[in-house]
Amino acid sequence: MKVLVLGSGGREHALAKKLAKSDMCSRVYVCPGNVGTLMEDKCENVNIDNIDEFVEFAKKENIDLTVVGPEKYLTLGVVDAFRENGLKIFGPTKNAALLEGSKAYAKDFMKKYDVKTAAYEVFEDYNEAKDYLENIKYPVVIKADGLAQGKGVVICNSKMEAEDTLYSFMIDDIFKGSGQRVVIEEYLQGVEASIICITDGKTIKPFISAKDHKRLNDGDEGPNTGGMGVIAPNRYVTDDVFENFKKDIMAKTLDGIKEENLDYKGFIYFGIMITENGPYLLEYNVRFGDPEAQAILPLMKSDLANVILDTLEGKLHETDIEWIDGASCNVVLASNGYPSNPVLGDEILGLNDIEGADLFVSGIKLYDEKFYTNGGRVLSLTSVGETLDEAREKVYREIEKIKFNGMQYRRDI
Ligand code: AMP
Ligand code: GLY
Repeated sequence: MKVLVLGSGGREHALAKKLAKSDMCSRVYVCPGNVGTLMEDKCENVNIDNIDEFVEFAKKENIDLTVVGPEKYLTLGVVDAFRENGLKIFGPTKNAALLEGSKAYAKDFMKKYDVKTAAYEVFEDYNEAKDYLENIKYPVVIKADGLAQGKGVVICNSKMEAEDTLYSFMIDDIFKGSGQRVVIEEYLQGVEASIICITDGKTIKPFISAKDHKRLNDGDEGPNTGGMGVIAPNRYVTDDVFENFKKDIMAKTLDGIKEENLDYKGFIYFGIMITENGPYLLEYNVRFGDPEAQAILPLMKSDLANVILDTLEGKLHETDIEWIDGASCNVVLASNGYPSNPVLGDEILGLNDIEGADLFVSGIKLYDEKFYTNGGRVLSLTSVGETLDEAREKVYREIEKIKFNGMQYRRDI
């Protein structure tokens, strides 16, 4: 099989590497890919970055299967475009991708199908939203409806903060349209978990649970980031929590997908808050997580290409997904100044010395056989061990080998 992976980050590096391990795959093209995918066995980068060009390339190269990384292409309808051209692709259609593309749509879907989630209201009128802030409890969470590159959620501790947030979303229009509709939601206290599942629209199966670390600094301090590291499994997802997740969130979501006739064959990511009253759903993402993929896929024993093909054929109910009996730890190395002002172009030393970890590239430039930082999140390392402590120890030992100016990473993943 010739496989195509769409995207250019660490998640796509992890997907391409895992797919390349399959005996079924002869070649894995990555569009546009990165320095990491460039160096993987069987992988090749193709420097194109829009849907028409992807379709043209897939037709010309007789691509057998395409796997989509980022939500951007999914919400733009890449799956619909491939299907119209008779091409096999893994991911939800544009309609189904609204589960991530519109927070108001997602919350209304959760309510309609009784998926356990925080209480909320949706507003399109600024004055109505502002009035609503008068008589509610704080903190409260304000969410821009549309995609806002991970910046569209603000936890407001006071009415003043909430008013400022609302003004910037709806009047200043800082997200260029994405904040014209807002969700105002009850604040939930707890610990978070990422549970990525796979579905063919009839069956849904969970992968190993994971825990992302969103804040920049140790102890969950500092600004929010795209994710600074992941452990899998997530120790807060006890058997009890997992059963409640399946019953109150996962199964009801599948009911909704069926009832609404959503054409969904892909990964679906549940962002969970585990509270005193059990797990609540914070959000859907219609894709794998980044860096969750870099921690979860190294634990997968099964052949991912095979699992995806079965899913596309509607046979997920007969497919066993097997996992290594152990744990993984993924730690992100970010550039100087990340997330507000990442400095690019610092030379990275030590990459060739990594032995006890998988290296996943997010933002690196290769020039004259040297590596340079070329993004906020630069790379991440994942080690697997029989226990989480073992995985952690291994990954931090490897990190010692890597050096670049202003390198930032968390010591407490
Ligand atoms: P979302 O994109 O909806 O997952 O929100 C991004 C982040 O905001 C989550 O990972 C949580 O840390 C936080 N968050 C979102 N909704 C809530 C809520 N209702 N209560 C507390 N924290 C929340
Ligand atoms: N790591 C969070 C996400 O992929 O959305």
